[in-house]
Amino acid sequence: MSAPLFELRGVSKRFGGIHALEQVDLSLGAGEVIGLMGDNGAGKSTMVRIIAGNFQPSEGEVRLKGEAVRFANSADARDRGIEVVHQDLALCDNLTAADNVFLGRELKRRIGPFRFLDYRAMARRAGELFAELQSETRPADKVRMMSGGQRQAVAIARTRLSDAPIVLMDEPTAAISVRQVAQVLALIERLKASGVTVVLISHRMPDVFTVADRLVVLRRGRKVADKKIADTSPEEATGLITGAIERA
Ligand SMILES: Nc1ncnc2c1ncn2[C@@H]1O[C@H](COP(=O)(O)OP(=O)(O)OP(=O)(O)O)[C@@H](O)[C@H]1O
Ligand SMILES: [Mg+2]
Repeated sequence: MSAPLFELRGVSKRFGGIHALEQVDLSLGAGEVIGLMGDNGAGKSTMVRIIAGNFQPSEGEVRLKGEAVRFANSADARDRGIEVVHQDLALCDNLTAADNVFLGRELKRRIGPFRFLDYRAMARRAGELFAELQSETRPADKVRMMSGGQRQAVAIARTRLSDAPIVLMDEPTAAISVRQVAQVLALIERLKASGVTVVLISHRMPDVFTVADRLVVLRRGRKVADKKIADTSPEEATGLITGAIERA
């Protein structure tokens, strides 16, 4: 059997006395959509930050294609094909949509011995990405002036610059309109169809039960469920999240 695309093995994360994650195992297959659920403070964002290289685990192992890896930082994880939309979106308000999409990955153009930022190429590519996402976001608009849904589109467009095989989305539908939720879910379906692995964190049962293949539930830093969506239900998920159901 071939190794999973990505694995956490026995991963724990402590912040002083707080046990944010305790002995968590997770395995991600290619083209899978995993719905990651849990109450506030359950450890979801901490898990995403470990997968994306923002945090180092206090204990345990991270494996990519069967090989133990240690990401020095998020740029390192990104170079290895892991992209993330953080819960706070991590955008620069005073920059344009296009600037934000290319932040840290600017396109450059050479004229003689000089290198210039190629604003025109970046605006064009950002415009293409927004069109693909069916977002009305315009590349030249300042992020400061944008709605929640437009900001979300900018953060998601960032993940499509490279053909990353793993995309993590930390509550992408928490603060957006019904129509925009449908668009984000459609985007996840398209990523899956092209073989991308998506980890979707959401508090919204309909989102998870619409697009996910597998449900993973964290409670107080421990994984209490990891099963096929077809073998569970929103009622069971709710019980697992609240603790009414111990484990499944
Ligand atoms: N940088 C940090 N320093 C100290 N404690 C932290 C840090 N990040 C997270 N924690 C703690 O770790 C625990 C898990 O937090 P985490 O953000 O992973 O939860 P979450 O499941 O994403 O919650 P939410 O649904 O509210 O986003 C919490 O008790 C939180 O206070
Ligand atoms: Mg969180």
